[in-house]
Amino acid sequence: MTRLRASLLYEQEYLYLTGLQEPDCALILLKDNSPRGYKMTLFVEPNRPDREVWDGPSAGLDGAVSVFGADEALPNDPATMLTTLKAMLSSHEHVYVDLPAQMTIPRQSMRTSRFSIHDFLAPISPTGYDLFTRKTDFESVVKLLSDRRNTHSLVREMDVLRSRKSANEIRVMRHAGAISGAAMAETMRAIKPGMVESEGQAVFEYACARRGAERQAYVPVFASGRNALMIHYVRNDALMGDRDVLSVDAGCEFAGYASDITRTMPIAEDGKFTPAQRDVYEALLRTLKGCTELVAAKHGYSLAQLHRFSVQMLHTELKDLGFQISTATLERVLYPHYVGHWLGIDLHDTSTVERCTKLEEGMVLTIEPGIYIPDDPAFPKLYRGIGMRVEDDVAVGYGESIVLSADAPKEVVDIEAVSSGRIVPRMG
Ligand code: GLY
Ligand code: MN
Ligand code: MN
Repeated sequence: MTRLRASLLYEQEYLYLTGLQEPDCALILLKDNSPRGYKMTLFVEPNRPDREVWDGPSAGLDGAVSVFGADEALPNDPATMLTTLKAMLSSHEHVYVDLPAQMTIPRQSMRTSRFSIHDFLAPISPTGYDLFTRKTDFESVVKLLSDRRNTHSLVREMDVLRSRKSANEIRVMRHAGAISGAAMAETMRAIKPGMVESEGQAVFEYACARRGAERQAYVPVFASGRNALMIHYVRNDALMGDRDVLSVDAGCEFAGYASDITRTMPIAEDGKFTPAQRDVYEALLRTLKGCTELVAAKHGYSLAQLHRFSVQMLHTELKDLGFQISTATLERVLYPHYVGHWLGIDLHDTSTVERCTKLEEGMVLTIEPGIYIPDDPAFPKLYRGIGMRVEDDVAVGYGESIVLSADAPKEVVDIEAVSSGRIVPRMG
């Protein structure tokens, strides 16, 4: 299998295969008869003391071999790469690579002072062959790789590998979930009526950082009151109203892996939901648990089937609360998003893995039923204006699943105990 880091889009795959977090590198894996089954060639920035003053130490050619396990390390300049590729391609029939969609190259003025492989294979500008001196080189590489009968998409192969996590990856993701879960508990305890939503966000992010998270995995949602009716609300700048709820969709990244948790919590001095909020929340929670029970390989469910199940279950739950709606209205108005997605290095991971794929051991997915009830006489008055979601990260086992986000309180008694300050979350 040949691998080129063809654009930023593929950075995650490069990280997955090498663990090397440096820009402008490339990797080729060449199938052979060695015990390992392939030869690994890394193109990296050679050590340059003048640059290390600015950017700190880098792996260099020696580190690429001794630390990152390459059989061969070469400098990351396009001429070297072109020569190497030509030689390799002549002896191999099948090539797996994802080439840039547009065969165009950036203007000289838009590039940094140095030529990089990244520029070379993934040009940043859709215009301007004119000023670019290495046009011929760029075209030769693309031509070399695309003019073959046996060039295959790499991303699909990579997604299959990435979709089944190893025990180690699951451990890392469990840790990411534990950090975010504890941060969620701290947030529940900290928020009070009259605070700005972003103060809650600051508590969450600080709690993650203190526990060793690298960064947030995505821009978090801190949506109070009616803001929670907007599924992608990220302004996070409103004052939190007394007796409203706050929906928090937030997760940190740890060792390159994302967590993605949603919890809905009361904004009240006594830390309690109103009866109407509680009704809706418990309906969602039962739906989440119902879906989670089916997340085990032995049940043979797919993500698509889980979604259908969540719609049916939520429909029944809402009927019990007095909603007279069809499942079509439920899906169009009240629950207009999917039950979940694959999770891993990317938040929405391995997008080429179809939703109708049967769940297999090692897959990780989110389960995130939500309900967003507008001010519309079609729905019971008591519940209008309530928006909530609850989201867990779940690793598929054969007999049962592992909830990676279990540290984030989700039972009503637990949320209310933490929110009221009766239980103090572990402060890490
Ligand atoms: N936070 C984005 C999602 O839940 O998919
Ligand atoms: Mn989320
Ligand atoms: Mn999600």
